[in-house]
Amino acid sequence: DHTHADTLRTPIVAVLGHVDHGKTSLLDTIRGSAVSEGEAGAITQHIGATDIPLDTISGMAGELIDPTDFDLPGLLFIDTPGHHSFSTLRARGGALADIAVLVVDVNDGFQPQTEEAIDILRRTGTPFVVAANKADTTPGWNPQDGEPIQKSMEAQSERAKSMLDENLYEIIGQLSDAGFSADLYWRVQDFQKNIGVVPLSALTGEGVPDLLTVLMGLSQRFMKEEMAIDVTGPGEGTVLEVKDERGFGATVDTVVYDGVIRNGDTVVVGGQDEPIVTEVRALLRPRPLAEIRTEKEFEKVGEIGAAAGVKIAAPDLDRAMAGAPVRVVRDRTVEEVVEEVKAE
Ligand code: GTP
Ligand code: MG
Repeated sequence: DHTHADTLRTPIVAVLGHVDHGKTSLLDTIRGSAVSEGEAGAITQHIGATDIPLDTISGMAGELIDPTDFDLPGLLFIDTPGHHSFSTLRARGGALADIAVLVVDVNDGFQPQTEEAIDILRRTGTPFVVAANKADTTPGWNPQDGEPIQKSMEAQSERAKSMLDENLYEIIGQLSDAGFSADLYWRVQDFQKNIGVVPLSALTGEGVPDLLTVLMGLSQRFMKEEMAIDVTGPGEGTVLEVKDERGFGATVDTVVYDGVIRNGDTVVVGGQDEPIVTEVRALLRPRPLAEIRTEKEFEKVGEIGAAAGVKIAAPDLDRAMAGAPVRVVRDRTVEEVVEEVKAE
């Protein structure tokens, strides 16, 4: 049952970074699928959402995680484009996020959209960790598929290890120039004061267990209170994308971050000209671990609780707007909610 009867919602994790630094590949590895290969020119042009349940996370993290330490239901990852022309999408992803992963190619280090992402995270006060990706491209690297990074480091030659270290310290220096004190994540004592850097490879999966462990740990330690929501309250979300769906007409792919949306609910959706008042005809959920952006098989559900990605089918959504709010009316007046949506 993915409608979360519990009172703790899934933290929303935005994945940000420069074009081609490996955001989608990292999520592909976590999902065990290949969205990146299916994309036009392999460049992400939209925001995506993928729900990763706790049992999948603990399965991947292996010995690093004891799932009984956690009562959060998992992590909802938001993929964002790194291409320079998509800055509004990055800002939207950053604004939605409870925490973030800043993906940096270990060889390229900081690039223009890395800086832009850091600015978004600073502005929104979003805690983040750095995924120092493509560790496998270090000359002489001896890949240790899916292993924790320290175990993988032990299998490397002194030369490979020191080349990777050099690149990692370069990134730590660049973070420091950007005003963030950072260190390799296993040296960080206080994640509220220091940014953890996780060396990893989206290609081989080494270091991915570490990233998942750090993200779960951070969420559990520092965000549990914010994650406690009234699961029966009126649903609130943000439109990622407006899309035609066969048999449904215009639909909105939405990230629900508070409360619950039920089939038949009256909702107010931000539109290109004015808020749209409509009634939910169908709630279409991607399968667990599926990316809403590329999913073709949806499951019709009666309700969906935060946090989750869901496709909402309802009349008159063709003038809905990406980035706009979605609000369930429930026990308030329509006028009240329309004013709320206008004010956003
Ligand atoms: P945008 O969505 O366009 O911003 O790019 P992205 O950050 O999602 O990058 P993407 O995952 O599409 O990867 C870009 C390229 O880098 C692809 O060719 C990937 O196969 C490659 N790549 C990603 N991660 C790794 C890695 O860990 N190791 C190696 N060797 N290649 C990688
Ligand atoms: Mg991408």
